[in-house]
Order: sequence, then structure tokens, then C-alpha cells
Amino acid sequence: MTDRGLFTEERSAEVVIDSLGPSTDLRLREILTSLIQHLHEFVKDVQLTEDEWSKGIEFLTRTGHTCNDVRQEFILLSDVLGVSMLVETINHRAFDHATEQTVLGPFHMVDSPPRALGDTIALDGVGEPCLVTGRVTGADGTPLAGASVDVWQANAEGFYDVQQPDIQPELNLRGLFTTDDEGKFWFRSIVPRYYPIPDDGPVGELLAVTGRHPNRPAHIHFIVRADGHEPVTTHLFVEGSPYIDSDVVFGVKESLIREFPVVDDPERAAQLGLDNPFRTVHFDVTLLESEPRKADQP
Ligand code: BEZ
Ligand code: FE
Repeated sequence: MTDRGLFTEERSAEVVIDSLGPSTDLRLREILTSLIQHLHEFVKDVQLTEDEWSKGIEFLTRTGHTCNDVRQEFILLSDVLGVSMLVETINHRAFDHATEQTVLGPFHMVDSPPRALGDTIALDGVGEPCLVTGRVTGADGTPLAGASVDVWQANAEGFYDVQQPDIQPELNLRGLFTTDDEGKFWFRSIVPRYYPIPDDGPVGELLAVTGRHPNRPAHIHFIVRADGHEPVTTHLFVEGSPYIDSDVVFGVKESLIREFPVVDDPERAAQLGLDNPFRTVHFDVTLLESEPRKADQP
């Protein structure tokens, strides 16, 4: 019999891969080849029924329909399946004591307002006061003066300003700071609370039917940038927060958890402009030097 290379159960992946044309970009071919192999292997492994296939398509369609200008349900799906953290982790492997990366999340949707060192980002003053301090250095410990430290966080009830436009002041709990000559930064804030990711869509349904909670432990987001260095997108996690061991998006790394001890010192509180007692946290950030661009190499 002539071998026409027709589709069969045994050769399903091979036949589809063979259909990729010679003009296919090499990297795209590599990605699609592996994706097709794994997808076909998966369908065979679980012996997917037509009904299950249909439900899967319907779920993905609803996931797409849930996306809009301010909501990206596909990224949320990738987050709860651990894919976002895996991509993050393999692209920013822990190296040379550099600060570890974690997910960006969907709430960095407005630019943080530039603020002076020591300013408060808690514009409504609601919550447990907290002094956040830290220092940005290179991998060899050199202080990085003039580095930008972009921070945003949820409030004491677990909501970002953009989720409560009628309750929180605009740009509440966001700030863009610049480190001083010693690479130091400090600002006043409040201790954030844990919160659920948006769970009123298909991703929330997936969590519910698989017996998973939708919560992230309390954290402060940071993006730190300095000339000649790789930027870092990360979080500072509150030690002891509920869900610290079961973050729904798997974003917690041990190196990013800090204690937030209580300070009871009325004089110091008055100097800082905080109510007494207050909490403190220290978060040093280490950036790796950027790879020299090819054009800059000798
Ligand atoms: C966040 O931390 O803001 C976040 C990260 C991933 C999914 C949802 C929220
Ligand atoms: Fe967050």
C-alpha cells in the first residue's frame, strides 16, 4: 500500500508536525513541535472524550470573553496553573545573591507617582502604620545611588486603589522612589492584608471545583531599576500572613519573606510622622549587572 502519510492515531503528532512549512521561523517550529507532541501525548494519556474536549474549548472561550482592558483572565489562568511562575523562574534563575523575581500581577495598571524619600504612600492613613526601609546594591555590594524603586500594595482590607475607586484616594499605596547616595530608600505605608485574586470568572470556577482557595498572602510589590543593571520585579512578603505557604499563584520565595516587627517608641514615631506603635520592615535589593549588548562587545 502507498504510504500517503495520512493521519493515524499512532502517527498523529508526527503528521501534524510534518505539515509545518519550510518557511516557518526556526524558534516557532521548535515551540510548535514540542507543543504538538505534548498535546497529542496528553490527549492519548487521558483518553480525552469528545464531551471533555468540548468542555475544555467552552472553558477557554469563556476565559477569552472574560478578558477586557483591565482584566486578563488568560494570565490569571497561567498564574493559577503555575505557568507564570515557571516562566519567571527559568528566565531569572537565582544567581549571585541577586534578589529573586516573582509575578508582576495585574494591578500595576497605573504609573506610580514620584515621591520623596520618607513620604507616605498611605494617602488615607487607614491601617497599621509601617516604616519600609531598604538599600539597593549591585551583586558586589556597591550601593546603587539614583535607582528607582516602584512600589504598590493592597490596603489593610486587601484591596488595591483601582478596585475601590469610590473608597480609596487615587494612587493610594503607590509610589516611585529614588535611592539616595548610599543606595538607600525609605517610605511610610501601612501593613497590607492578604487578598483573593479576581475569582468571579472561569479561573475562579476552576479553583472552586478543584477545592482551591483564591488567596495571595500579604505582600508589597516592587520593581527596582538602576542604570547598567537588570531590573527586578518582585514582592516583599509579610512573615506569618495567612496563605504564606499556599499562595494561589505560587509566587512566594523563601528569600522574599520578612518579619514586620512592632516598634513601641513614641519619640521615634513622632520623628517619622507615624502613629505609635508602628511596624517596620527592611528589604535590601541586589541587582545583577546587565549583560553587555552585542554591539558594545569588543
Ligand atoms: C498580585 O499580586 O497583584 C496578583 C498576582 C497574580 C494574580 C493576581 C494578583
Ligand atoms: Fe498583589
